[in-house]
Amino acid sequence: MKRILITSALPYINGVKHLGNLIGSQLPSDVYARFMRALGFEVLFICATDEHGTPAELAAIEKNIPVDDFCKEMWSLQKEIADHFHISFDHFGRSSSQQNHNLTQHFASRLWENGFIEEIEEEQVYSLDDNRFLPDRYITGTCPACAYEKARGDQCENCTKQLNPTDLINPKSTISGSKSLEIRTTKHLFLKQSMLKDRLTKWLDTKEKWPLLAKSIAKKWLNAKEGLKDRAITRDLSWGIPVKKYGSIWPGFENKVFYVWFDAPIAYIAATKEWSDEHKLKESSWKRWWLTDQGAGEVSYVQFMAKDNIPFHTISFPATIFGSGENWKQVDFIKGFNWLLYEGGKFSTSEKRGIFMDKALDLYPADYWRWWLLANAPENSDTDFTWESFQSTINKDLADILGNFISRVSSFSVSKFGHRIPDNNQYGKLEKTTIRKIEIHYGHLIELMKGIEIRKSCNELRSIWVIGNEYLQEAAPWSVFKENPEKSKMIIRFALNLINLYALISEPFIPGTCKKIQDHFQFTKLKKFPENLGLFLHNLSNKHEISVPKILFPKITDEERSKYQQDFSGC
Ligand code: MF3
Ligand code: ZN
Repeated sequence: MKRILITSALPYINGVKHLGNLIGSQLPSDVYARFMRALGFEVLFICATDEHGTPAELAAIEKNIPVDDFCKEMWSLQKEIADHFHISFDHFGRSSSQQNHNLTQHFASRLWENGFIEEIEEEQVYSLDDNRFLPDRYITGTCPACAYEKARGDQCENCTKQLNPTDLINPKSTISGSKSLEIRTTKHLFLKQSMLKDRLTKWLDTKEKWPLLAKSIAKKWLNAKEGLKDRAITRDLSWGIPVKKYGSIWPGFENKVFYVWFDAPIAYIAATKEWSDEHKLKESSWKRWWLTDQGAGEVSYVQFMAKDNIPFHTISFPATIFGSGENWKQVDFIKGFNWLLYEGGKFSTSEKRGIFMDKALDLYPADYWRWWLLANAPENSDTDFTWESFQSTINKDLADILGNFISRVSSFSVSKFGHRIPDNNQYGKLEKTTIRKIEIHYGHLIELMKGIEIRKSCNELRSIWVIGNEYLQEAAPWSVFKENPEKSKMIIRFALNLINLYALISEPFIPGTCKKIQDHFQFTKLKKFPENLGLFLHNLSNKHEISVPKILFPKITDEERSKYQQDFSGC
């Protein structure tokens, strides 16, 4: 049985993430992880906070607390919020862990040994007013490629171009706003990606099945006009992983640390080791996921991320792995996402525009957000979150289709047949054709989820819910009851079995609600999805007790919608 390793891009530590970040990696990777577990695959689902680099330092400065305290606090907050969204990580680690220090320094030593690292005198922007170099986000200016005015020293958010601070037009210091900057030289380690171009090209050519987004961004970097750039993997900062070679400080790099984008992806591996250390497992238990000569040859490794992360995962991290000369597992499939927009514009942390994960949970249950985001995942293009769409999707799909089915069936059952499940299971023609119909969509759903087609999977699941309503409409147990109460019993029994099925197969998408339904009706919580639906839909026994659950999905009112539209429109 194939094993599946799933990683979700590591969220930056600098603040609570918004819904766009959630649908860009954690949420779709969770659905995939849950679904694959339910199909019987052995899954390991790993994430961590990305704690180094300038965003963390800047956020800590703003809060006026030491950066390591800040990170600790934000790590537990992010972990708690992910839990509330039912994200089923096997481990949520930290890129600042000792495991990641060791592993990052190990990779650097191996790369040096193999000739893929060079010490280079580099021109850096130095701020006279701040008395320091301004790496990455410490400097902002206009993007030379697309003219976006708030491009950062490391990357343009608008066009995803990777930048050097000296590339920016009209640069200024992020700390002080100062424009009295000068160029000074300082030494840095460079990862010689250009030497790995052929190897990377060959490897990428084997990834024909990758979604277009990931492939095209990778190709763009690989074949850039200026060529594949060698990149500095050290920075003039104090917060980060010390630059060491074979266990001791790298001469000349006493006051520098590794660049955050060098150590962050390595933290996928380190967080797996954290997981194994935390559970006191053998070394082999994490290595079998990561070393191809120790079992990871059997692993299918899938990464989830938003599109701005793709260059680092298709070029830089694979280069690090190839350059190490060791048997580390390379990614097999990259699922990249476009942007989620908020009411036609960008989510903005600084302008408080859009909905952040903590606030979202104050307004509605996690499953409302999960369902809307998944059903509208920005897979093929950017997608716009609007309150109108949110209201209509939730009220229709969850309240009118799924919720209504469950409440109609259970209340009719209780009112006519009391608190036991009615005992006639002699299904007729209509039930059999209904099973057939569901089987077809269920088959599609499984294939689509294996291919990580999130939106289309939601459509299939919704179709399966709709079939229940159509069945009920046609079977009409309330009219049948008068002449043929026995037949009406059978209809309701079948419909209750459908509820059992819904609670099981909707779980990857709306786990909170499914657990509620299963608890309420005391359905057995199977770990695996059924292979034979016909059999499964006979599962409920006569002994089962039935009562009417509280409304599962209260509707979103027009008043709520317009209030929140106001509240979250930004300052
Ligand atoms: N923190 C980065 C971001 O939010 C993602 C890092 S993913 C990693 O864009 F794997 F490389 F760590
Ligand atoms: Zn740009």
